[in-house]
Amino acid sequence: MTTPTAHLPNDADVLVSMLLDPPFTHDPYPVASRLRDVAPVHRTDRGFWLVSDAASVEQVYRSPTMRIGFGAARQDQDPQFADSPSLQLFKRMLPFMDPPDHTRVRRVLAPYFTPRVMAGLRHYAEDLVDRLLDRLAANGGGDLVFDFANDIPVAVVCHLLGGVGEEDQILCRDWAEGLVEGVHPECTADMLRKADAAAVAFGAYAERLIAGKDGSTDDLVSCLVREHAAGTLDMQELVGTVTTLIGAAFHNTRNHIASGIYELLRHPDQLAVLQGNPDLAPQAAEELLRFDPPVQMTIPRITTTDIVMGDVKIGPGELVAGLISGANRDPARYAEPDRLDIQRDDGGSISFASGIHSCLGILMARMEAQIAIGRFVQRFPTARLIDETPEIEPSAQPLTRGYKQVRVALPRQIG
Ligand code: HEM
Repeated sequence: MTTPTAHLPNDADVLVSMLLDPPFTHDPYPVASRLRDVAPVHRTDRGFWLVSDAASVEQVYRSPTMRIGFGAARQDQDPQFADSPSLQLFKRMLPFMDPPDHTRVRRVLAPYFTPRVMAGLRHYAEDLVDRLLDRLAANGGGDLVFDFANDIPVAVVCHLLGGVGEEDQILCRDWAEGLVEGVHPECTADMLRKADAAAVAFGAYAERLIAGKDGSTDDLVSCLVREHAAGTLDMQELVGTVTTLIGAAFHNTRNHIASGIYELLRHPDQLAVLQGNPDLAPQAAEELLRFDPPVQMTIPRITTTDIVMGDVKIGPGELVAGLISGANRDPARYAEPDRLDIQRDDGGSISFASGIHSCLGILMARMEAQIAIGRFVQRFPTARLIDETPEIEPSAQPLTRGYKQVRVALPRQIG
């Protein structure tokens, strides 16, 4: 099966606009595929490059000559960012750092995201998911975004961090929502205001959390306080790290869980395969992530030298972003890319990135998705979607993708 793209325009900038500008299309994949077919390495009329084939997106992540340069680039492009609290915070957050600072901070954090640490969190995550499923069952259904997936990722990462109560987790989720607006490539003054307000409140909360720890316990914040005392992290990096971990854990995992179950309910053949073989949950989660990636675009990088992508030479100082939605459906990488196949065995996707910025929380996200998606489909074999075409959540578009709500009915089984 190939994507039906014949009805779509050939003009690459029109396609880019269909992807980046509201109203956002419910199904961006034919558009991304058309763009990949007509101009896989394209300089947009907005002044940055958008690359959409799998090999080029991999290059964006892996090329040692590309830098994130987020802080400097933002200020150069747009004077409204000068002294902006959100930009100050972003500069201290791992995803927006470049080596050597990135290497140092990542090295500090990596030991807390190992298989052993995740195994220690598994029971907590399973218990949490089961309680949320009980609530859905008692209500005969609900919204998979806000009555289920929303409550999982921040709770799990805060269990690891230590000391973030349930009420505070709700505040953190709101701040994370606000902060993400500041990453938008075309951030308006109103969006920046929201991002700045969130950065001030989130930063102050992280400072209070850190101040309450003396480094004597073994939760992650205490461990990071000890790192600070040993001189490996400065205080701003410590604050940036706490906000990063909560923020990075939240949207993508929530969207992966809710959209993943939605896709399974839309593909009854695949749902039946998973229900017949629960051990396929890890593979299913991975394929759902390829099929509908929560992160649709890489954070833009800046070239520092000439670089050849596809058959195009890009000079230094250019902004380049990779379109994950195009890469994950590239027929050069995946057989029948538009088919959801939870038994697919062609090497996974690029949805967790690769290279030095590859997702630090990959094991945590995988664990949560496998538990949440796996347990939902086993427990509710008769679940059905109430809306076949749920509304897209516009706020974080076009960098990320998720639904506003995914309502399901859970008819009681007889017998
Ligand atoms: C399904 C869920 C998730 C997806 C799809 C996802 C995807 C990604 C992607 C694509 C990046 C790289 C962005 C770029 O450089 O352009 C990234 C980075 C990152 N992610 Fe995730 N993520 C998920 C869940 C999580 C979770 C649960 C955490 C837990 C704390 C987390 C923490 C991070 C961090 C800290 C980075 C920055 C890594 C670095 O720059 O070295 N993510 N993630």
